[in-house]
Amino acid sequence: MAIKTDFLVIGSGIGGLSYALKVSEVGEVVVVTKKEDSESNTNYAQGGIASVVSSDDTFEAHIQDTLGAGDGLCKPEVVEKVIKSGPKYIKELLSVGVNFTRDRRGEFDLGREGGHTRKRVLHVQDFTGREIENALLRAVKSKGNIRLYENHIAVDLITEKSSKKDIKCLGAFILDIDENKIDTFLSRIILLATGGAGRAYRHTTNPRIATGDGVAMAYRAGAKISNMEFIQFHPTSLYHPQGESFLISEAVRGEGGKLKLRNGKAFMHNYHPLKELAARDVVARAIDSELKKSGDACVFLDITHLNSDFIRTRFPNIYNKCLTLGIDITREWIPVVPAAHYMCGGILTHLNGTTNIKNLFACGEVSMTGMHGANRLASNSLLEAIAFADFAAKSSKSEFKKEKGKRYSGVKNWETKGRFHKKEWVIISHDKKEIQNLMWDYVGIVRSDRRLKRAASRVKIILKEIEEFFGLNPVKEEVVELRNIATIAELIILSAISRKESRGLHYNVDHPERDDKGWKRDTIVQKEDC
Ligand code: FAD
Ligand code: SIN
Repeated sequence: MAIKTDFLVIGSGIGGLSYALKVSEVGEVVVVTKKEDSESNTNYAQGGIASVVSSDDTFEAHIQDTLGAGDGLCKPEVVEKVIKSGPKYIKELLSVGVNFTRDRRGEFDLGREGGHTRKRVLHVQDFTGREIENALLRAVKSKGNIRLYENHIAVDLITEKSSKKDIKCLGAFILDIDENKIDTFLSRIILLATGGAGRAYRHTTNPRIATGDGVAMAYRAGAKISNMEFIQFHPTSLYHPQGESFLISEAVRGEGGKLKLRNGKAFMHNYHPLKELAARDVVARAIDSELKKSGDACVFLDITHLNSDFIRTRFPNIYNKCLTLGIDITREWIPVVPAAHYMCGGILTHLNGTTNIKNLFACGEVSMTGMHGANRLASNSLLEAIAFADFAAKSSKSEFKKEKGKRYSGVKNWETKGRFHKKEWVIISHDKKEIQNLMWDYVGIVRSDRRLKRAASRVKIILKEIEEFFGLNPVKEEVVELRNIATIAELIILSAISRKESRGLHYNVDHPERDDKGWKRDTIVQKEDC
């Protein structure tokens, strides 16, 4: 029996939860999420959320900083709308109980991050994401008409199509991980808020959920996917042989942290006048270049000149994490390397949250709205996600009015095939490491035509193998994610190959210049046989 609802929300980060709260004013909502409810990129956000809340700041300055980082590809009308609505969303977060850190005078304690010309990042120490996630979850759980399904992973969207231009989303097939069965969820409106895809790379700041499921599902269903070549590498992820990668917030550099080589020499002045606070693409490439020159495994971030009580109060999360690995950041330099952090591309999404598939909306990291262009400005992601959740909720509500009362379309249930072949799976499961390695080595911070071509041919073969396995075996969570990682890898590579220039986060040594005549436009990929 299908589970039926008015609004199906896939993902429980800031995008999905804030949308769910808003559409619950008019109908029944189901939120599905693939792990426990709080597990999301949102939960790990450190630096904070950028918004113009200080009298020293202006909307125009935030807009210009965003456009500057975006390197010619932001959509100005989107940037303006999101930034000007920023204070409204800060109020909403305060109203659900997010207690942003304040200074002694009771004013917001604003942080500074790369590419920002002002201090404008609201934060809760360095636990901002966790506070936002928990506050939104509390609000969602207080609503009687929102049902939350944990350990439910969406496998594919259910669509009805008469042509490539005329596709309608009806719901999704969802694997109940505990019960090991696929359920059919039918809904009048569907929101994809599944977050990013950092796990397509060997080194990433992203948690395990970030396997690009939403983009991959939407692509298979016929959605237009845009700007996937723009993968943001965060310059400072903790380098430690025994630790999973862990972010060292840009706010640490905002408070005066200096990047140094092993011999103690600073180097950022050789790359940009803003030094450590240049935009992320610049800092990540500078570190990459220094590591290639020196052959070292990491560079270092030094904040030992700051007051140790200040460090412990401002960055308790980073301080404690490093201490568990034997690094006292009040006295020792922090070893850091760049790591895949944020997907600027995604499902092509319009200013009202719609996609080219009817009744399918998207918001947050899964979407490409035009806010970030070729490079996202720090701390603009939480802002974009909450803003587009609102825009999408508004247009979803009016779309819902039209759909309300109609019968749900008849949909065949998922057909489970065969028995799971464990031996076959062992072979296929190695593909994940191979994809992550080749994405890191060939499709990373610095690219070339030859490396991209090589990555493309290998990923094509791997994806074919995975699709075959997927078609012949009962669905398992690991296979769903592997299939999606491979699809994401292919989309990034195809988009990177097509962009014959260097811009923002996409740097190709064979086309090192920005080419505004040929390439001041988005890349768009749509599946041929959808
Ligand atoms: P997420 O918060 O990632 O939520 C996605 C949800 O979808 C999760 O619940 C996940 O389990 C679920 N999901 C995924 N696939 C499926 C599926 N197939 N089926 C069911 N559920 C699924 N941005 C800032 O603006 N400021 C910061 O300070 C900041 N710091 C960051 C620090 C770290 C370590 C990281 C990783 C990111 C940071 N970012 C920051 C980026 C920002 O956190 C994310 O872009 C943002 O939180 C994305 O929100 P979202 O709702 O789109 O997705
Ligand atoms: C950070 O704290 O450095 C992450 C901020 C972001 O990704 O916007």
